[in-house]
Amino acid sequence: MSETIAKQLAYRLNAALTNTSFGTEVPEAFVAQIDQAQNRQFGDYQSNAAMILAKQLKRNPRELATAIVEAFDSGDFCETPSIAGPGFINFRLTTSTLQKRLEELLTDPDQLGVAKVDHPQTIVVDFSAPNVAKPMHVGHIRSTIIGDSLVRIGRFLGHKVIADNHIGDWGTQFGMILWGWKNLLNKAALEVDPIPELLRIYREVNAKTKEDESLHKECKNELVRLQSGDEENIVIWKKTIEFSKQGLQKIYDRLDVEFDTWLGESFYNDQLNPLVDELLEAGIAEESDGAICVFFPEDEKMADKPALIRKSDGGFLYATTDLATIDHRITEIKADALWYVVGAPQQLHFAQIFEISKRRGQDAELQFIPFGSILGQDRKMLRTRSGETVQLSDVLDEAVERAYKIVAEKNPEFSEEEKKEISEVIGIGSVKYAELSQFRMTDYIFDWDNMLALKGNTAPYLINAYVRTRAIFRKLGRNFEAGGPIELTTNAEKDLVLKLAQFSETVPAVIADFRPNTLATYLYELATTYHKFWEACPVLKAEGAIRETRLALCELTSQVLSKGLDLLGIRTTEKM
Ligand code: ARG
Repeated sequence: MSETIAKQLAYRLNAALTNTSFGTEVPEAFVAQIDQAQNRQFGDYQSNAAMILAKQLKRNPRELATAIVEAFDSGDFCETPSIAGPGFINFRLTTSTLQKRLEELLTDPDQLGVAKVDHPQTIVVDFSAPNVAKPMHVGHIRSTIIGDSLVRIGRFLGHKVIADNHIGDWGTQFGMILWGWKNLLNKAALEVDPIPELLRIYREVNAKTKEDESLHKECKNELVRLQSGDEENIVIWKKTIEFSKQGLQKIYDRLDVEFDTWLGESFYNDQLNPLVDELLEAGIAEESDGAICVFFPEDEKMADKPALIRKSDGGFLYATTDLATIDHRITEIKADALWYVVGAPQQLHFAQIFEISKRRGQDAELQFIPFGSILGQDRKMLRTRSGETVQLSDVLDEAVERAYKIVAEKNPEFSEEEKKEISEVIGIGSVKYAELSQFRMTDYIFDWDNMLALKGNTAPYLINAYVRTRAIFRKLGRNFEAGGPIELTTNAEKDLVLKLAQFSETVPAVIADFRPNTLATYLYELATTYHKFWEACPVLKAEGAIRETRLALCELTSQVLSKGLDLLGIRTTEKM
């Protein structure tokens, strides 16, 4: 498979630069960039290199652009570049380049033109990480869905990726749960379905502690007993974790999300004391009022916010566990990079532990990948009508129910089983896509009608485009057979080939700044381009090379759509 079109154009452009009369003046570090054209009226790709260089060399941008174009070797790759506005250089690909690209893509069904990275890394992605025995709420959906997509894309690009669910299985909530277990538990209810029962006792104790100060202390005592290894409490703790994990697993199965490891906070308990001692010895941490802290005097934002790593009563904190976690991932798992998909409010926490890691001389690449909130129609944090936090499992149920209504109405002839299967794909896919099509820092409004709409930037629209590609082969009565003649004759076909070729430019860009929404936008544009092609170009009624070419375009669109959706963690269906 040859390099992406953008790269090939960039090589030619940079070669041209050195061949101009001002070539010797170009700074050695300067590399001309090629971008996909926003507006295809002037070309398929463009470069603002002449304008950037003009500033650096204090010369006229249009003059530089003209000299570059003169020195540019188009070969039969593209037409002679044109110049627009203050000095943009525009490139239009030749039909033969597009044709060759299409032929190449058809021989690469696994990667579809997307190159694997030259230097694969071992990457741990820390995502989802709900707190045990508390409900996994819709806020966790962002971490789970974004994290899973990054895992999939990282692997597709050739990295070794470990998906780790760092569940909160050692938090203060266990004080309340232990007390509730001993005083409020309904054993029969627990046997029928443990998760709601655990949730009920957690909620009830939580409410009670707000009115009853002494209960607060009792819960704290239960927690201290657990932390000092009390056998009864350890047994209860283990049971609640087991139950919670089973409940979570059901949700993950439904979401099609898999973890390689579930190393929760408690996994690191034994390492906390030696770690704090080591930090003291290294002079990174110091004692302050009986507690152990790390100070950051040189950082404006953290100067008055030390990180607490051991309380004066000997208790450890969230930060201590996270430092031990970094150690484990670097020394045991041998990770080169750690990606944390966690909500924006934890920004300071991660800035601190990353800084401490740096002071310890650890050189793994540490990435905090934050996200904003999900809002209700009232633009406030999403809540149920009674004011409680919305639970993820309820959201998924409702999504599938709503999808079912749409599917059943549209296709009354489908069997009950088909309707159910399809609505699961559409419902879950819609929730995921509503998330992934937004820039992760955006606070987005959770809107059922928008996310399930058949038109617009939605999962149903994309899945429907895929279904359309499959319908052609059902009508044809056979699968696509590669190797036929390729001949592009219309603009709608050429536009589609260009879009398909740009999959290879889009996927690596997602990882550059951890934005799955870049891929979502791409897939939406691909679907739109396909619909236009579909309206303009008869496939089965065409003949000879034209028919073969159009079938090839349907096949490749089908492959790119399903691969692209798969990288977002969204399944497809053959009919809908
Ligand atoms: N359990 C935490 C929460 O629900 C998220 C944990 C994120 N991961 C980490 N290594 N701190 O807020």
